[in-house]
Amino acid sequence: MNHFSTDIKADFPIFNSSDLIYLDNASTTQKPSKVLEEIDSFYKETNANVHRAIYSIGNEATRRFESAREKVAKFINAPSSKEIVFTSGATESINLLARSLVSNLEPGDEILLSEMEHHSNIVPWQMMAEKFKVKIKYLPINKIGELDLNNSEQYFTSRTKIVSITHISNVLGTINPIEDLAKMAHKVGALFISDGAQGVPHMQVNVAKLGCDFYAFSGHKMLGPTGIGVLWGKTKLLEELDPFMGGGEMIETVSFEESTWNEIPYKFEAGTPNIAQAVGLGAAVDYLDSIGMKNIQEHEKKLTDYAFDKIKDIEGIRIHGSSKKKSGVISFNIKDIHPQDLAQFLDQDNIAIRVGHHCAQPLLSLLNETSTARISFYIYNSEEDIDKFCDSMIKIKAYF
Ligand SMILES: Cc1ncc(COP(=O)(O)O)c(C=O)c1O
Repeated sequence: MNHFSTDIKADFPIFNSSDLIYLDNASTTQKPSKVLEEIDSFYKETNANVHRAIYSIGNEATRRFESAREKVAKFINAPSSKEIVFTSGATESINLLARSLVSNLEPGDEILLSEMEHHSNIVPWQMMAEKFKVKIKYLPINKIGELDLNNSEQYFTSRTKIVSITHISNVLGTINPIEDLAKMAHKVGALFISDGAQGVPHMQVNVAKLGCDFYAFSGHKMLGPTGIGVLWGKTKLLEELDPFMGGGEMIETVSFEESTWNEIPYKFEAGTPNIAQAVGLGAAVDYLDSIGMKNIQEHEKKLTDYAFDKIKDIEGIRIHGSSKKKSGVISFNIKDIHPQDLAQFLDQDNIAIRVGHHCAQPLLSLLNETSTARISFYIYNSEEDIDKFCDSMIKIKAYF
């Protein structure tokens, strides 16, 4: 089986019209024809609102939307599709949790995050912590970019009520030991959340096995469209949680005085949901399933090792994070070349990489950088892409 060849690139129209080398997959991924066709067919053949129409295309729209929910549930091994809340992305999923959970905490209670979080797993907690006088602590990272759990009892305390840690760092690529962290959180009676924005697209995630209470991710980083994401949560916890947005669909009854909530997951899906986007995400899940997440993870590991080996000897390069437990993300700086300049020169060779703070300013301050260059891989990348990237880098280096 040679899934990872030019065959895969051929499934992605964006690569058919140019020789683009796309190495910014941690930011967002390209879309295969199957996903684009599914969205197109939804709008052309069955466009209607969901859960309310009596007519045929309305029923069909609902069926396609709910079928996407079932596919996502199966994909992450959720015990029930009721546990899949559609959101606009990982950011909204975490905001939902922050809004709904922190108001139940007492002043002085603690939320535990880590030093390698994306802003979307820091800022929502800060916004609520300030309001409810709750303290935020950060698990430190060590020199190789892994979580330092040596003094964990300082961080997991009787005051810790929520622990929220990224599954995979979008800057360092480090894969965190989620099962262990979940156990440590539960031992002190805290809820455990994982930000899976970089997890689900790149490895087989089994939420039941990981031991999380909630898990958040985005569709656009796993071949799906923008505007759709997921909050997975355990049934009992979702049932206990208050909704964060009010409106149509999320209610059971409304009177002039008060309202009661719909059952899960609908009580968290106020208003008309992103229907076509959910249907597109369902097609992305089918596509990933057809390749197999184990194969995808292996392919990315091979590419990452290959790239690491090729770039490590470039004169003046500083690669951030050298954990062996790493996914397909490499961040680096090169002496005397600003990342911005590097990206602009690479763009002249039609190579797309990401530079900047990667929405992780606190982590970058620990790395003593304000900006890094980052390459990140996905199923359509090949060793040839990395060779071209390296050739271009050598050319740029000579120019500077
Ligand atoms: C680790 C991590 N968490 C959360 C997010 C936020 O995802 P989104 O912007 O799709 O909501 C990202 C996006 O880059 C990410 O890498």
